[in-house]
Amino acid sequence: MVAWSQTPTAAEVAVVDDDAANATSLEKLLTREGFVVRATADPRQALRWMSGGSPPAVLVTDLMMPEVDGLELLRTAAVHAPDTAVVLMTAYGTVETAVAAMKEGAYDFLTKPLRRTDVVRAVGRAMERSRLAIENRALRAELERTGRSREIIGTAEPTRRAIALLEAVAPARSTVLLLGESGTGKEVFARALHRASPRAARAFVAVNCAAIPENLLESELFGHERGAFTGAATRRDGRFQVADGGTLLLDEIGDLPLALQGKLLRALQEGEVERVGSSRPERVDVRVIAATNRDLRAEVEAGRFREDLYWRLDVIRIELPPLRQRSEDVPALAHHFLRRFAAENGKALLGIDRDALEALQAWRWPGNVRELENAMERAVVLARGSAITLADLPSHLQLRVHDGPRRVLSFPVGTALAEIERDAIDATLALTGGDKRRAAALLGIGVRTLYRRLGAPGEAIPTEEES
Ligand SMILES: Nc1ncnc2c1ncn2[C@@H]1O[C@H](COP(=O)(O)OP(=O)(O)OP(=O)(O)O)[C@@H](O)[C@H]1O
Ligand SMILES: [Mg+2]
Repeated sequence: MVAWSQTPTAAEVAVVDDDAANATSLEKLLTREGFVVRATADPRQALRWMSGGSPPAVLVTDLMMPEVDGLELLRTAAVHAPDTAVVLMTAYGTVETAVAAMKEGAYDFLTKPLRRTDVVRAVGRAMERSRLAIENRALRAELERTGRSREIIGTAEPTRRAIALLEAVAPARSTVLLLGESGTGKEVFARALHRASPRAARAFVAVNCAAIPENLLESELFGHERGAFTGAATRRDGRFQVADGGTLLLDEIGDLPLALQGKLLRALQEGEVERVGSSRPERVDVRVIAATNRDLRAEVEAGRFREDLYWRLDVIRIELPPLRQRSEDVPALAHHFLRRFAAENGKALLGIDRDALEALQAWRWPGNVRELENAMERAVVLARGSAITLADLPSHLQLRVHDGPRRVLSFPVGTALAEIERDAIDATLALTGGDKRRAAALLGIGVRTLYRRLGAPGEAIPTEEES
């Protein structure tokens, strides 16, 4: 909605007619019917009502007037007071103009000479229409607000900062770079950014640069001409063209092949793309959000990512910290997933008991929110009682609270890392009762790594992939 638009405050009717006698008689008629009425014979006065101050809920205006006519009032209302319903009055013979005015958004029209019952009915209906328009707008705004906050869960300081930044940059067209480990919510933020932007009604398109084979990626992004390559039987739009007017998420941007990086840079700088097999640039109006869990700076240093593209992407950077650095978000996220999976599984679960919640908050969450989401899905499916208990959580989480107060290790500064590591591993194994799998999970390393560190002779090293 335009920022300067006015919401009609009172259920008021404004009457405008350069024929002063007619304006006055309408004012009397409508007042008798119980409406709050203001009337004027000066259309410029009416123009001021519509463009500033407080527009009425209903505007009843003559169509043909000197200086400012009914159409101009109608257009002004459309811009500055979109909730005002406009009723036009026309003399016999100008009905065509009235019909044209309806197309421009007039709510109704009355032909002169006016009949009392027609006027009252038209104004009554217009009043109702204005009320609905206001109500709808309020509902939409509310939906948008709660929709957004429902989508991004979390109130920890870093999460709030990221949301605030998102809302601040949403109205702009600037490129946004979303950084964060896998599962931290980059896609969630990208979608929220699109929804909060003026592009919300247009397309949101996501491309995972790592998932599309290199030889197809160019045409996938920029489209191709018919016959551009074998198999290109028809001319096809790329994701840039599909996202025209909207938002394009380039996920895993760190995996974009060098050969395409130059082409992307051009698209960002010129707002133009070239289809494969064509040398004619096409204009596209796309807001680009780039996301990655890689260290793009390091990619630049390693020569795998163009520095000029890096700078072009890093205009507004939103960093999503790993979940372990915002553990205050864990309870809210856990309850959010609990409600969702309980509903999906037709379970009437009440909550998460204290021990389980403590265990959830203590875990490191190497897979971040996605890992928490999966743990909650599993817990909901397994849960027997009315709440999630420790027993419903994955076993490596259970240890955290099970064994009562834990040993604390301390080292004099200057101790060799190897020695610290050795003691940490020993103490953790003591905690798990020798269970290496659990110890590895607690230490945040793979089981094979743990075996290697232990140099455990004679023991078979498990063959599964490290997690
Ligand atoms: N703040 C959040 N509120 C609610 N759900 C979230 C939030 N953050 C992440 N999620 C959920 O966690 C899962 C992972 O999020 P998402 O796919 O956005 O992560 P990502 O950073 O894009 O991960 P990857 O790098 O692996 O693509 C999704 O199912 C998403 O709905
Ligand atoms: Mg993602």
